[in-house]
Amino acid sequence: MAQRRPERWATRIGVILAVAGSAVGLGNFLRFPTQVAVYGGGAFMIPYFCALLFLGLPLMWIEWTLGRYGGGLGRHSLPGIYHVVTGRRWAKYLGVLGIYIPFVIVVYYTYVESWTLGYGVYSALGKFSGFSTKEQMAHALGSYLGTAGDAVWTPTLAVLFLAITLALNFLVVRRGISGGIEKLSRFAMPLLFLMAVALVVRVLTLRDVGVATPAQGLDFLWRPDFSRLGDARVWLAAAGQIFFTLSLGLGAIITYASYLRKDDDVALAGLTSASLNEFAEVILGGSLAIPAAVVFFGTVGTMKLAETGSSVQLGFFAMPLIFQQIPLGNFFGMLWFLLLFFAGITSSVSLLQPLLAFFQDEFGWTRHRATAVLLAMTVVCLVPVVGLMKFGFLDEMDFWSNNILLPLGALVEALVFVGLIGMKRGWEELTRGAQIRLPGAVRYLMYLSAVYLTALFGVWIYQQAVPKLTLQGVAAEARPYVLTCRVMLAALLILMLVKVRVAWQRQRAGYVTPPTPESE
Ligand code: ALA
Repeated sequence: MAQRRPERWATRIGVILAVAGSAVGLGNFLRFPTQVAVYGGGAFMIPYFCALLFLGLPLMWIEWTLGRYGGGLGRHSLPGIYHVVTGRRWAKYLGVLGIYIPFVIVVYYTYVESWTLGYGVYSALGKFSGFSTKEQMAHALGSYLGTAGDAVWTPTLAVLFLAITLALNFLVVRRGISGGIEKLSRFAMPLLFLMAVALVVRVLTLRDVGVATPAQGLDFLWRPDFSRLGDARVWLAAAGQIFFTLSLGLGAIITYASYLRKDDDVALAGLTSASLNEFAEVILGGSLAIPAAVVFFGTVGTMKLAETGSSVQLGFFAMPLIFQQIPLGNFFGMLWFLLLFFAGITSSVSLLQPLLAFFQDEFGWTRHRATAVLLAMTVVCLVPVVGLMKFGFLDEMDFWSNNILLPLGALVEALVFVGLIGMKRGWEELTRGAQIRLPGAVRYLMYLSAVYLTALFGVWIYQQAVPKLTLQGVAAEARPYVLTCRVMLAALLILMLVKVRVAWQRQRAGYVTPPTPESE
């Protein structure tokens, strides 16, 4: 069988932009402001920065290191990477998390991403002209998604924009690492930052609209509040946000880093990509939906809106409403949703790549075949997400992904790194080719991240496992659908475990040549 040529990033800036593209996403501009509003503004920021320092940064370095290490041994998805870097055959089953989690997330993520495209077009066409209340916006979103009133299955336009979004995503990944993902990131990321800066300037210079000033919004975000530090939920939410926003715990960064060369720097690259994301989240993301919502609804109204809705409401309600009150409002509305779409697509392609890499490496499939199979799987799983939206199907997937799967994936990574690879070898890998000198204390942060994660799980199980598992607070008519969602998630996990087993069996039987270490 012919030796497969390894794919590579073409440029150093390309890989950093791609990883930043994976990180900067809907989480920065939609989820972050909502979490801030739900957990009381400044009260959220202290646990948030602790999670960044004690979980985000160490795990970012662990992921870049694991990825480059595994890539050098010819593997680009977590089952293969865990197998080769630990030298233990069973470790591939732990690695299933690195193909399962990104797939679960990408299924519903692409749907939300497609709403931003739809809303961008709606804004450009002036569909929100004259809208002035959140009830009007809620009705518009409900109509778009087919969830308003008695509607059960009528989201025709939503399905159309979803089809376009899927087509764009799969066209990009089909063209490969440097030909597709890197090109997209080099074009989309600078544009995204420019659009975000333009919107921040516009939002922060809002005068004489709404019930408050943008400065009051910033004050809500930045005024330290120590009163809720004893509430474990705030710490859990902050950790969840850090994983989601940095794309950690799900295998995407590891897969991206596996296309580096053996001596490419990972220390500075990891730090740079995390910093770019934090700039986009805290400075840019924090200066958009929160000030806009506070201007329109006031601080209390903003907290209420965030608490009662899903994480899209601030972005999908407050921003268009504010823009309706200023000159060129439709243009700014379009710019906002375009920004979200660009942020979304650079993230969703990174969520598709791990499973594609798995099919290519472990089954020996061509990229085109792998893309076609992945597209079919995504479409099948999207059917209930779209059709059962009204019954909380998407929210249920989002809950398990963010609250359980990401921290679990991250915990396994930390344990593999410090336990199975060992700190000595892990540190040598991390610092080889490094363009910055990392302080030795980072080693302790890596141990600490495993302890931090274990504590978070303990608290979650103690506080929330029973009510969650027994469906407390779920409306009676939604229960069958929530359970269906859980069954689907369990079935997908079993399917992926079986795929891993079959792949290795086929390799042993000689049907597929396993990838070999790369000679560079
Ligand atoms: N990191 C990506 C985001 O923030 C998934 O949306």
